[in-house]
Amino acid sequence: MPLQCATLITGLLLWLQVLRSSAVIPVEEEDPRFWNVKGKEALRRALNLQPNPHRAKNLILFLGDGMGIATVTAARILQGQMAGKTGEETSLNMDAFPYLALSKTYNVDQQMPDSAGTATAYLCGVKANYGTLGLSAAARRYQCNTTAGNEVSSVLHRARMAGKSVGIISTARVQHASPGAAYSHTANRGWYSDADLSSDAVNHGCRDIAYQLVHNTDIHVILGGGRQYMLPNVTQDPEYSGSRGTRLDRTNLIDEWLKGLFEPSDLRFELDRDVTTDPSLTEMVEKAIRILRRNPKGFYLFVEGGRIDHGHHAGMAKLALTEAVQFDRAIGRAAELTSELDTLSVVTADHSHVFSFGGYAPRGNPVLGLSRVIAEDGKPFTNALYGNGPGYRLENGSRADVNVTIAGGNEYMQNSAVPLPAETHGSEDVAIFAKGPMSHLFHGVQEQSYIAHAMAYAACIEPYSDCLLEPLPEPSSAMSCRPSLPGLTLSLLPALYTYAWA
Ligand SMILES: *[C@@H]1O[C@H](CO)[C@@H](O)[C@H](O)[C@H]1NC(C)=O
Ligand SMILES: *[C@@H]1O[C@H](CO)[C@@H](O)[C@H](O)[C@H]1NC(C)=O
Ligand SMILES: *[C@@H]1O[C@H](CO)[C@@H](O)[C@H](O)[C@H]1NC(C)=O
Ligand SMILES: *[C@@H]1O[C@H](CO)[C@@H](O)[C@H](O)[C@H]1NC(C)=O
Ligand SMILES: [Zn+2]
Repeated sequence: MPLQCATLITGLLLWLQVLRSSAVIPVEEEDPRFWNVKGKEALRRALNLQPNPHRAKNLILFLGDGMGIATVTAARILQGQMAGKTGEETSLNMDAFPYLALSKTYNVDQQMPDSAGTATAYLCGVKANYGTLGLSAAARRYQCNTTAGNEVSSVLHRARMAGKSVGIISTARVQHASPGAAYSHTANRGWYSDADLSSDAVNHGCRDIAYQLVHNTDIHVILGGGRQYMLPNVTQDPEYSGSRGTRLDRTNLIDEWLKGLFEPSDLRFELDRDVTTDPSLTEMVEKAIRILRRNPKGFYLFVEGGRIDHGHHAGMAKLALTEAVQFDRAIGRAAELTSELDTLSVVTADHSHVFSFGGYAPRGNPVLGLSRVIAEDGKPFTNALYGNGPGYRLENGSRADVNVTIAGGNEYMQNSAVPLPAETHGSEDVAIFAKGPMSHLFHGVQEQSYIAHAMAYAACIEPYSDCLLEPLPEPSSAMSCRPSLPGLTLSLLPALYTYAWA
């Protein structure tokens, strides 16, 4: 097509797109004063930013599984558009965190990492091999006999040893790779229940992840999916009559020590959630913080938005982005229930995905909408795309037709360049957002394992228990904004905290 012609068509399409665009570009943005005022406000905040050099009483790590930077940007725009705005100018809760770093996510043996090796890095402070949990890179995946002697412990475990209350929350199964590295030492992330162990693993005495969940560390609050791995194979799931546990050892780990698992496997996607039976991530975070903050020594909480990753693997950007928006809501709720003065909050991802979006989208274009130009095959295309995955589809030798309605479907698969049954992780850096005591430690480009070190140091937890950070002075009782706790003796929480979702 001659260039002028293409330009003409492009111009025409742009005009049509603007006509169709629902949100109007804010007119004040045309005035330089708008940007100058905004710039000065941001500058004033930057000049006034004071590092908080106190010891962190509480630690919260929010982990968006697979939440690469493109996902953060697209989720931000989606959130704004859900509120009827153009979207790009919106601020997520995590956007307001003052300190940022980049995290290098590779595993010791893999350029493109997985959630197990990366979780070992950001939870335990030691980079590890693909597919292994809570073990140094001297361990080999699937080889039970490389477990003993290679265990590394998590900040969660060390926080518990220091007397803090600890909790894990996930929208995936709580035995999944990301939470799994907080409490288990396992040569294969797939060893969820004893039925999943290889005979070699059984012979060498390796225990499954669900077993380790209730036996390795006193965890006060466990909220998420994964019930099936806790129940004997003769026990019916309490919610799904067709489904049973998977354990062979006849042990009911829930009876032994459980707090509340809402789904036999992963929780449902936010878009499919039954709001009457399944709590949202925000509700789980709220419940957990209300329980954990009763401990005067503080708490460590791990919160995983686990299904951002699953949406991307399915090649369905709307599922992934909706999960990311929900994840950010939970971050906002946690901020309302804690104080930035004594709580270090860190938001990061384990790894990225081969998700991208761009391609001549005008301001306010639906983030899951179409480019304003037509591709060289004569067809429209979506701005959100995948490098590989199940979205590679040809109909009669060319790409399937798509329009705004189709592209906006909950389970629409964006085109991918290469066919794969599941879309893969990405290998580029992910962001670390931090606020609260010692959050200025998060700066520069860091190995992912640095996250665990900075968090442990901020709270003076092993191996930094000799840190010289002073705790924040206790506010006088008159000034205290702490909630009163009638009926609570403020003794440490019982090791076996029974908790039923109301
Ligand atoms: C460890 O187990 C693997 C099989 O998982 C085996 O191939 C290997 O030889 C064993 N190594 C040692 C030192 O026993
Ligand atoms: C259930 O576990 C028992 C061992 O406790 C085993 O003998 C049996 O085959 C299992 N049943 C199923 C359906 O897997
Ligand atoms: C593919 O081509 C056949 C034959 O021309 C036609 O009947 C069919 O509708 C086409 N399918 C699509 C999805 O375009
Ligand atoms: C998009 O395509 C579908 C299927 O061809 C059609 O039903 C729908 O009306 C179209 N929507 C728009 C906005 O063109
Ligand atoms: Zn993944």
